[in-house]
Amino acid sequence: MAVVLTVLVLFLAGFVAGFILLVMGAINFDFSNSEIPPGVNQPAKLRIIHIILISTAVVGKILENIGICTQVSFVRYMQGRKTLGVDPKLFIKDLWFEKVPVRIYQPKALSASQRRGVMFFHGGGWVFGSIETHEKLCRSIARDSDSVVVSVGYRLAPEHKYPAAYEDCLNATQHFLHRLEHYGVDPARVTVCGDSAGGNLAAAVSQTLAGRSDLPKLRAQILLYPGLQALDFNLPSYQQNRGVPLLFRERAAFYVLQYLNGNATNLEEVLEGSHIPIDIKLNYQKWVSPDNIPEKFKVRGYKPRVLLDCTTEVFEKVKRFCEPNLCPLLAADTILQQLPESFILTCEYDVLRDDGLLYKKRLEDNGVRVTWCHLEDGFHGIINSFGSDWLSFPSGKRGLDNVINFLKSL
Ligand SMILES: *[C@@H]1O[C@H](CO)[C@@H](O)[C@H](O)[C@H]1NC(C)=O
Ligand SMILES: *[C@@H]1O[C@H](CO)[C@@H](O)[C@H](O)[C@H]1NC(C)=O
Repeated sequence: MAVVLTVLVLFLAGFVAGFILLVMGAINFDFSNSEIPPGVNQPAKLRIIHIILISTAVVGKILENIGICTQVSFVRYMQGRKTLGVDPKLFIKDLWFEKVPVRIYQPKALSASQRRGVMFFHGGGWVFGSIETHEKLCRSIARDSDSVVVSVGYRLAPEHKYPAAYEDCLNATQHFLHRLEHYGVDPARVTVCGDSAGGNLAAAVSQTLAGRSDLPKLRAQILLYPGLQALDFNLPSYQQNRGVPLLFRERAAFYVLQYLNGNATNLEEVLEGSHIPIDIKLNYQKWVSPDNIPEKFKVRGYKPRVLLDCTTEVFEKVKRFCEPNLCPLLAADTILQQLPESFILTCEYDVLRDDGLLYKKRLEDNGVRVTWCHLEDGFHGIINSFGSDWLSFPSGKRGLDNVINFLKSL
């Protein structure tokens, strides 16, 4: 008995010590690798979220090394674990649209007319995130804007590479557009919406559907801090916010490579900009260039870079970065001209800020109406950071209110 007890106590002590070490390690990593600019909204809270994320990643790595599960599957499990209770105001149902799992949120209140429809694509770098991680956000959108929301559980990288996620989102959207009547949705008011990688997917789906005459036209697209290009990871926002949680510059390149190739083999070249030949870069410079970023966004320190060339082997691996379905910022003017009214949200302290600013300019240059919401104290992921109340940010709430107001105006 005493032996069992001793073992138990030792085991517990070991566990507690391990936990303390883990958290201290994560705190140390956070303080030495991240920098939180003075303008960020609630820096302590952001650090706590970052430390939780790092701890989860470290535990995942340990489990992977001892052969229990992969790091990716552990992190996905931890992020999607939380379940919310029933929502008194919504009917929530899991369905399949073709081969794609979706969750549909329908307001219970009777409505005199057909409702708005919102196709929602979650973020998470094409690698993480799920219907569960964005449950709270989708419920808010459905409830507060009185819309039917369809959240898409598209296939994730690295198991499923580009264009799997894009195809699933497109497939689900087409399926929905064919059956709007069944869900009581007004064909003239369907919007696509996504955050981060989901914003990338929403932009790509929107472009694909722009020229289609056999389906109802989308009413709008809502892009929340979207990633829209992979040609230049040294634009001002990438330099300025390289170490700001929740998305480091290096991770942004890592994720898009996971989506493209299922591995991040060419990370170094992508980060320094030696993955695309100079002539191709020059060709796209009219759209992807720091010159198209307003001066006021460059004052926080920005160094122009010389253009580097690249080897054919490297370009061979990443040349699909030039496809607009992967990098919507590179679509032709003739496509952009047909796009619906757009809402773009950017955050000042986000590496992807300039992707949003460049796309905004391209849309406006092509006569598309853009409602732009810039969170001066915001960082990447602020709208859906954790989906829990005590870890939410007033600035993220403000961003979401703007999204709801935009939807209500449609
Ligand atoms: C869905 O995608 C698959 C390919 O992944 C395709 O064969 C199928 O026709 C698509 N369905 C619709 C309705 O677009
Ligand atoms: C990474 O992906 C590329 C493209 O799919 C492939 O050619 C290469 O062999 C992969 N590298 C590793 C280490 O798996």
